[in-house]
Amino acid sequence: METRVIVVTSGKGGVGKTTVTANLSARLAMEGFKVVAMDADIGLRNLDVVMGLENRIVYNMVDVIEGTCKLPQALVRDKRVENLFLLPAAQTRTKDAVTSDEMKGLCDSLRGEYDFVLVDSPAGIESGFRNASAGADEALVVATPEVSSVRDADRIIGLLESFGKRSINLIVNRVRPDMVRKGKMLGVSDVREILAVDMIGIIPEDETVVVSTNRGEPLALSNTSPASRAFEKIAGRILGRDIPLQDLDDLEEKGLFANFIKLFGRREGRG
Ligand SMILES: Nc1ncnc2c1ncn2[C@@H]1O[C@H](COP(=O)(O)OP(=O)(O)O)[C@@H](O)[C@H]1O
Ligand SMILES: [Mg+2]
Repeated sequence: METRVIVVTSGKGGVGKTTVTANLSARLAMEGFKVVAMDADIGLRNLDVVMGLENRIVYNMVDVIEGTCKLPQALVRDKRVENLFLLPAAQTRTKDAVTSDEMKGLCDSLRGEYDFVLVDSPAGIESGFRNASAGADEALVVATPEVSSVRDADRIIGLLESFGKRSINLIVNRVRPDMVRKGKMLGVSDVREILAVDMIGIIPEDETVVVSTNRGEPLALSNTSPASRAFEKIAGRILGRDIPLQDLDDLEEKGLFANFIKLFGRREGRG
């Protein structure tokens, strides 16, 4: 199969990009695919910690780009999941340590060898995001049901479209159906209508996410928690399986939509 390079991005920080990258990478590897989870958050790396691989890092992507080591030497093999590898970010460098062309070259050198490369993007719309996106064909945009997050996601989607990404899909994370029902939180349908992109999954607020982050054990390894089941479904949809977004039904809530549509307006020619 042709390698799919997918950037996981958001604009806003702290919405779940690293969590999504770690868990979808693990899930896809568990399905038998060869996966590289690439940490493009140079200077603020933490994908290694979320994956529980921080003690095994010898080299990082900047070492590869600068020719200090070969690419295979920098890849950290996962302890628990076969076919899962981490390409760590440099911690002691700034985002300016790499260029977009170098990032693209790095992604291209993984093509052919791996089925999936998931790139964990830094927050923001500056060079770090642009570099993380440079080598990707597709994008997963993570948003939480909060106005600031949706606004940033909207900005990011516009930029990704201008970069010519052929597939942009939305993940809504940290959804709390109880709050949506009470009209205290944007509903999934609100977010989807504002952003007018294809939705590929919804992840509920789930405290086991925090526990797994702290332990460095991707949730995807057990499918007992609500968030873990959500990751399983999203991975299935990435693989083209027809898994209906039925978990939406419970969350549909139009109540707040009218207010937020005024804030954002509708983007023409999309969706
Ligand atoms: N669905 C969720 N439920 C509960 N906590 C979550 C969920 N998704 C992410 N978190 C927590 O939110 C924090 C930020 O997540 P992270 O993936 O690091 O965001 P980002 O990479 O976008 O900055 C982490 O502490 C993580 O455990
Ligand atoms: Mg992160």
